[in-house]
Amino acid sequence: MKIKALTAIAAIMFAGSVYADENAELVVNGDLEIVTKTAAPAHLSDVMDEVMSGWRFRSEGTQAMQMDDFDNPGMIFVDQAMDAWNTAEGSEGKSCASCHGDAEDSMAGVRAVYPKWNEAAGEVRTLAMQVNDCRENKMGAEKYGYTSDQMAAMEAMLSVQSRGLPVNVAIDGPAAATWEQGKELYYTRTGQLDLSCASCHEDNYGNMIRADHLSQGQINGFPAYRLKNAKLNTVHARFKGCVRDTRAETFKPGGAEFVALELYVASRGNGLSVEGPSVRN
Ligand code: HEC
Ligand code: HEC
Repeated sequence: MKIKALTAIAAIMFAGSVYADENAELVVNGDLEIVTKTAAPAHLSDVMDEVMSGWRFRSEGTQAMQMDDFDNPGMIFVDQAMDAWNTAEGSEGKSCASCHGDAEDSMAGVRAVYPKWNEAAGEVRTLAMQVNDCRENKMGAEKYGYTSDQMAAMEAMLSVQSRGLPVNVAIDGPAAATWEQGKELYYTRTGQLDLSCASCHEDNYGNMIRADHLSQGQINGFPAYRLKNAKLNTVHARFKGCVRDTRAETFKPGGAEFVALELYVASRGNGLSVEGPSVRN
């Protein structure tokens, strides 16, 4: 017990005393190069030149945890989700693998293009929506809770199959209306503090807020293992937390507003590598 408490205190002091190195480069396991800084996508050219992953804004200690899969606590959940991938569930007696085969083959590149327009459904789908659609309609299994541990783990496993590939969500064609809605939400000031996402993540990234080094609020690293709550966190759970911090009424995870916001925020990271599961404080 005593040792544990001491380690926890040391960890806090360490995190507080070491400033993030915004120029550090991320290479995972010594060979997988991750683009954590690149030219901003064209649609952001009026507001910023470069986009940066949240990894760049973390302390050296937190950054290091993501450089080796043995040190990345998020990887345990990837293993769990791989088991779930191969486990039959539901009335059809099928597993994900029954239809999709090896995730390494069938899911390579998928995370990089989500959220994505689904023609048959006539809607923009997040990865979580697609996973639940397969569970419900293809397996006859119960949906995962939208921000549940199981969903976060499955998203982490799917992310790993795209790690290192550039985020490349489509914002034109049938996805354009949803993207516009997400953009509107991103710039709308809300809550008692009258802040928008942009107030913090566009106008003030690089600055300290309380004890936190503000990033651009990118989602290329999601799901993110947070040291704060010691679990994987989904995109919508993170959005919810940020909206709450402005003392505003928040939207429902999995609801239309957050789906639109996710598409828009994902598109602000077009060109950064898929990084999930990332490690954050
Ligand atoms: C009975 C077959 C079947 C099962 C079982 C199944 N899926 Fe699917 N899945 C599909 C089909 C068919 C599509 C593509 C068509 C569509 O849009 O529905 C798909 C699409 C997907 C996609 C999107 C791929 C892309 O390129 O956009 C993901 C991610 C996915 N499934 C994950 C899962 C996961 C995770 C499970 C297990 C929890 C699962 N699926 C179980 C048939 C299945
Ligand atoms: C009051 C300032 C503030 C506002 C407003 C705010 N956030 Fe955040 N957000 C933070 C802080 C602080 C963090 C943690 C440090 C960091 O990564 O920037 C954070 C983290 C994030 C992250 C995690 C980034 C990563 O790499 O792990 C995302 C995504 C995010 N915010 C999205 C949003 C969105 C979308 C909105 C608008 C709905 C929003 N935030 C509004 C302060 C804010």
